Amino acid sequence: MDFHKVSHLAGEIAVPGDKSVSHRAVMLGALASGTTEITNFLQGADCLSTIGCFRHMGVSVRQQDGRVLVDGVGLHGLRAPSQPLDVGNSGTTARLLSGILAGQPFRSCLTGDASIQRRPMKRIMDPLSQMGARVESQAGNSCLPLEITGGKLHGIRYQSPVASAQVKSCVLLAGLYGDSPTSVTEPSLSRDHSERMLSYFGADVRSEGTTATIAPAPTLAAQKVQVPGDISSAAYFLAAGLIVPHAEILLRNVGVNPTRDGMLRVLEAMGASLEYVSRYQDGAEPAADILVRPSSLRGTVIEGSLIPSLIDEIPILAVLACFAQGRTVIRDAQELKVTESNRIETVTENLRAMGAHVQPTQDGMVIDGGYPLHGAALDSHMDHRIAMSFAVAALACEGTTSIKDAQCVDISYPSFYDDLKRLSR
Ligand code: S3P
Repeated sequence: MDFHKVSHLAGEIAVPGDKSVSHRAVMLGALASGTTEITNFLQGADCLSTIGCFRHMGVSVRQQDGRVLVDGVGLHGLRAPSQPLDVGNSGTTARLLSGILAGQPFRSCLTGDASIQRRPMKRIMDPLSQMGARVESQAGNSCLPLEITGGKLHGIRYQSPVASAQVKSCVLLAGLYGDSPTSVTEPSLSRDHSERMLSYFGADVRSEGTTATIAPAPTLAAQKVQVPGDISSAAYFLAAGLIVPHAEILLRNVGVNPTRDGMLRVLEAMGASLEYVSRYQDGAEPAADILVRPSSLRGTVIEGSLIPSLIDEIPILAVLACFAQGRTVIRDAQELKVTESNRIETVTENLRAMGAHVQPTQDGMVIDGGYPLHGAALDSHMDHRIAMSFAVAALACEGTTSIKDAQCVDISYPSFYDDLKRLSR
């Protein structure tokens, strides 16, 4: 797909529902008693994979008038799937579902696409084994396909070596089936959507610092879930609004959970002009309307406990760093190596093809901004966030940028290119 420079970008946009919240709403809805009604559910391939997996375990999920209705079967009502559960490209489905499967009295198999079959699962195999489940990697490489033999679990106190919401959520979901409370402590706080939603569905979850603790639950109660817009999708329009010369974009209903809003804090440190037009909360998650206008940006340092709060936004922040004056240093982000692509490599490769001054490091990259980028032939490596980040870079570059496999945005934002086109002139 080809992209060109634009001079104007204006209008309002409500980005699709949050991916993390959409997955969790289906999962907890399936385990609850009663029908959960989800509005603004993200109809991206990853969340549809989650729905597919639960359907194979006997859960009815209906799409009705723009809402998703999940007829919960209760904590102990899932049926053994008659075939391997296919998580597609979705790490969140793989890791969170493993926690649920560990508590079921049946054997199941989880599989997925080529990318997910390379991503590390030892991080969930270890705690689930400590809790008493049998989790085996078929190829013996600690990756999918996984075979999970679940059953009664023990509560554990788990010290996670990584700040990962997928690991934390996996262990907390397994903790619903424990014989005593389960806690997870992480090196720094990752997104807390699971803690918020578990508590919204009636589970006893407490958070203190970087430790979350769950008590085994007798039942969960179905709820109405209003999914906020995904800040990770809004990120591309925030960036575009800052670098296209004549831009004014009003982003409606952006989820601004403080464990997810690191990009907003970094943008402010870089000198971005962001106006919070209104802030509100509907259910368990806060949201805001944000107006963005072009700004002169300066380089910054992105590191430490900030990293988990913007981990998915690093590719687009790296693009923005090229449009900022001075040096931007990204460190403590080694997790980028094990996302949908190795994002230290894929960001560096594509930025260099566009003429950027970027140096990859062990745990991030160093970018010297202020050198103009030019159009180039790029590879998305089938990574949705790489495709969207470079489609935005192309809007502020001379020449044509062509992106291979650009349609991989279907994973998290199927209408991304249509939305971008609607705002461009
Ligand atoms: C997610 C957590 C993040 C993020 C991913 C979605 C989630 O990964 O990168 O896209 O929904 O829990 P971590 O598990 O590394 O925090």
